[in-house]
Amino acid sequence: MEGLQETVFEKASLRRVFGAFATGVTVVTVGGEIPHGMTANSFTAVSLDPPLILVCVERDALMHDVLEQHPAFAVSILAADQTGVARYFADKRRPVGRDQFDAVPWSFGACSGAPLIQGSLAHLECALHESHEAGDHTIYIGRILATWRRPGDDALLFLNGELRPAA
Ligand SMILES: Cc1cc2nc3c(=O)[nH]c(=O)nc-3n(C[C@H](O)[C@H](O)[C@H](O)COP(=O)(O)O)c2cc1C
Repeated sequence: MEGLQETVFEKASLRRVFGAFATGVTVVTVGGEIPHGMTANSFTAVSLDPPLILVCVERDALMHDVLEQHPAFAVSILAADQTGVARYFADKRRPVGRDQFDAVPWSFGACSGAPLIQGSLAHLECALHESHEAGDHTIYIGRILATWRRPGDDALLFLNGELRPAA
């Protein structure tokens, strides 16, 4: 836009500012022959009617390639005692494909075909509705096909770059 100068930001300082916004933590999963899971805190509820959510995935992530090839995905919203699960699905050294799910209890999501992480606070199964390129991430919008939620508010939180159970 005319008159507005583009400012160059250090990634570290941007991360510090973004980190002031407390979020929950999810694991996004895709099924099929080579299933995949990735920890994501960019999950956002978008619309009630139609029922839409979004998640932003870095273009360099394996999950980005996987989502480009699949019509459906699931989101597991992690509970306070799932810090280890969040770290595991953010760790590039985890096995690829089906083997990566040997480390966690999961069940099959009948609507999406994606693994649902057991012990989570909630699950959403989604059909890929739209995607939008946005800088070094792509915004994937999912149309909700099915939901599940257990009682309780013992959410896992992410604040200032740290995973922490809700107080
Ligand atoms: C708490 C937390 C939240 C994260 N949120 C996102 C996210 O929203 N989007 C993203 O692309 N990566 C996010 N990451 C980083 C990915 O989980 C990490 O890069 C992962 O190894 C990518 O997996 P993949 O390349 O095997 O798909 C997050 C990591 C952590 C620890």
